[in-house]
Amino acid sequence: MMGYRKMKKIKNLVYLLVISTVATAFGIPGIASAKEYFTINNGQLERPAGFREWIYVGTPVTPNDMNDGKAPFPEFHNVYIDPESWQHWKETGKFREGTILIKELVSVGSKAAPSGKGYFMGEFIGLEATIKSKRVFPNEPGNWAYFSFSTKDHKSLAKSSKAMPQPACNGCHAANAGDDFVFTQFYPVLRAGKANPKKAVGGEL
Ligand code: HEC
Repeated sequence: MMGYRKMKKIKNLVYLLVISTVATAFGIPGIASAKEYFTINNGQLERPAGFREWIYVGTPVTPNDMNDGKAPFPEFHNVYIDPESWQHWKETGKFREGTILIKELVSVGSKAAPSGKGYFMGEFIGLEATIKSKRVFPNEPGNWAYFSFSTKDHKSLAKSSKAMPQPACNGCHAANAGDDFVFTQFYPVLRAGKANPKKAVGGEL
């Protein structure tokens, strides 16, 4: 027979599990765990690491040769969202407090392959990020702040970045993005997964 204490302990554990599952499902803030995938020190965002193992959402491409030789963000843009915000997105269709999206820039390496003519990825050449946080950025429109780690020669990345001035980034996102400052119209993974946990993972086609 199991001792009374031990049983009570297990019962409490089960309660805790049920409460946190329900809290997560309904997006109740404060009760559900809210891990943030970024570190801000003295107003500077430290260059995020580990994002290539987050959720990949799409790759817009603005090749230099279609942009007078100088695309503002050359050239492929691999976009990732942190796992906890992805979880929230597929359950609620909303970007949670503490969402971070990364856009990693990759050059066009080649324009021909055995599969045909096209744009093929070359080297990593830049890194941009955006964070939604009412707590840290109460005055930014939509509470979205924008960061750039890219350097002029596209050969190295800055270690940290201050939030960019509003007109440099936020304004265009506010005016043109499909969903809460994020260009979901260009990210098929986010579109499919919006408040749809089954489609989100590639089911229910
Ligand atoms: C003129 C409009 C415009 C400006 C200015 C702009 N962006 Fe964007 N941004 C876009 C578009 C369009 C996309 C999606 C398509 C793409 O990547 O080409 C995007 C995507 C992003 C993404 C991926 C997540 C998302 O929100 O869709 C990040 C991160 C990002 N931009 C950061 C920045 C930063 C940092 C700046 C300022 C240095 C900036 N952007 C300025 C238009 C803009």
